[in-house]
Amino acid sequence: MCGIVGYTGARSAVDPLIEGLRRLEYRGYDSAGIALGTPTSLFIEKRAGKLANLESALSPNIPTVHSGISHTRWATHGGPTDRNAHPHVDNEGKLAVIHNGIIENYSELKAELESRGHSFSSDTDTESVAHLLSDLRKEHGGDLTQAMRAAVKLLRGSFTLLAVHADDPERIVGVRRNSPLVAGIGDGENFLASDVAAFIDYTKRAIELGQDEIITITPSSIEIIDLAGKAVAPREYEITWDAAAAQKGGFTHFMLKEIFEQPKAVADTLIGRLSDNDQILIDELHMTDAEIAALKKIVVIACGTAYHAGMVAKYAIEKWAKISVEVEIASEYRYRDPIVDSSTLVVAISQSGETMDTLMAVRHAKAAGARVLAICNTNSSTIPRESDAVIYTHAGPEIAVASTKALLTQIVAVYLLGLKLAQVRKELSDLEVKSIYHQMLELPAQIEQILETVEPLRELTRKFATSDTVLFLGRNVGYPVALEGALKLKELAYIHAEGFAGGELKHGPIALIDSVKQTPVIAILPAGHENALDEKMLSNIQEVKARGARVIVIAQEGDAVVGAEHIIRIPSGPALLQPILATVPLQVFAYEMAVARGNDVDQPRNLAKSVTVE
Ligand code: G6P
Repeated sequence: MCGIVGYTGARSAVDPLIEGLRRLEYRGYDSAGIALGTPTSLFIEKRAGKLANLESALSPNIPTVHSGISHTRWATHGGPTDRNAHPHVDNEGKLAVIHNGIIENYSELKAELESRGHSFSSDTDTESVAHLLSDLRKEHGGDLTQAMRAAVKLLRGSFTLLAVHADDPERIVGVRRNSPLVAGIGDGENFLASDVAAFIDYTKRAIELGQDEIITITPSSIEIIDLAGKAVAPREYEITWDAAAAQKGGFTHFMLKEIFEQPKAVADTLIGRLSDNDQILIDELHMTDAEIAALKKIVVIACGTAYHAGMVAKYAIEKWAKISVEVEIASEYRYRDPIVDSSTLVVAISQSGETMDTLMAVRHAKAAGARVLAICNTNSSTIPRESDAVIYTHAGPEIAVASTKALLTQIVAVYLLGLKLAQVRKELSDLEVKSIYHQMLELPAQIEQILETVEPLRELTRKFATSDTVLFLGRNVGYPVALEGALKLKELAYIHAEGFAGGELKHGPIALIDSVKQTPVIAILPAGHENALDEKMLSNIQEVKARGARVIVIAQEGDAVVGAEHIIRIPSGPALLQPILATVPLQVFAYEMAVARGNDVDQPRNLAKSVTVE
């Protein structure tokens, strides 16, 4: 995690460097720091806590200079203190480094550097790189690019590094291994950042960087070399996101804005996916009909909220396409001996495309011979680049740490995948596929309808703001919805929340119901009468109510509900599509709880949006 920015050009560097950090704070906000390249020395300021602390430390004495680097941190090695904040400098105070990732061999490097006379002033893994680069730069006649190339060969782990030296402050050198770094091409100015959001206000032209590529920017040039020192042709692309999309646009929080953007995000992800002759169009899949027909298994890997989209995929794909689907938390996947081969399609779901656990699982699956499809929201990020194919979701930039609109678009993408597989394998007729697709086209308006009538839910939520435990119950596709409702509440409200499959209630969870505290239970009532699941959930509601729970039920319009203290109605539709609608009130519930409890909604404590360490 951590967000990094580099700027060189004609502007006062502090503006793009601080503005860039503001856009990257979602990556971590334990501390922030800046190094400005004045002609003779480096001006460094760094502060524990959020960016605002750095800004107030900066205001009185900020020099007007035209290049520098800046950093927002999610602490790994060393606590979140001023001392451990980046940038880190060499003993002469002339070379500054910022870092995202983990240097695994930092203690060996540190011991060796100390034996050569370097003294350390932080507890971080990063500082060893500043000292190492300092020595290597001297060995390479003052050439920071060559020093970086030599340093990378000695480093183990995952990292994006940016460095600047006071003797040539206009030159900023960066490298990436298993962590993101993109360049922005301006007019007489250039940028480096973890994510294009940092410089989207200044340019729409970006360059993606490959593994172990070293980039050097000055105001008028961008040069990329590989580890062997060979020049690499820049891979330029156009940023399609709008700068306004990365602003709050009148909402009090990014999360609320993103919840309200869901109708559009779902519509954009769905659009143009059915041909005139009723065929699902996913050309990006890059699979022939014969290859799809030969598939024996699908394995979905993901983390956090994206994992819940994967769980929905299991229900939808097994039902429609009759292919067995396994869903696995990415961090667990490669540490057992998963059985995959070329008849397995591995689907990696990730909003950011940078989650380290998911990336490592992708690599593991590819090495075992599986074909990997990414479902991702971030163009040219690492996971889609390393996968065989990618379906991009069109949620636009998601800034709030807790994921909302990205999840709904991921679920849409897995539905489309399920329909495509079912159609090619002839498990669903063209007419059935068309009918489901048309029902999906209703979803944006239905989400809109939920959001238009959300005020009573917000009021209701406040009544539960002092609860210390909330339980969520679901069955079938409502089960991942229950898990997501609980995760959102943990992330945002910092209270104990758990999601259960309704059938599991009597195998333990029911003991959590406290009749004195009247534990709130939110039950997602299954749609339709398939397997009488709705009746089974109604029995669960009676069971928890009898033990003192206060029950809120999410139910489709028209479905009979007995025993609920509150009913939240969502539009009716097919059971398998219900997660898209049932999730929305739970997002609002968690949002409102966080507001009522005075928590930081967009940047909850201890979290980061993009988790680029294992
Ligand atoms: C972090 C975020 C979650 C997200 C998860 C996976 O934990 O806080 O909101 O679901 O990472 O991220 P990804 O980018 O891979 O979807």
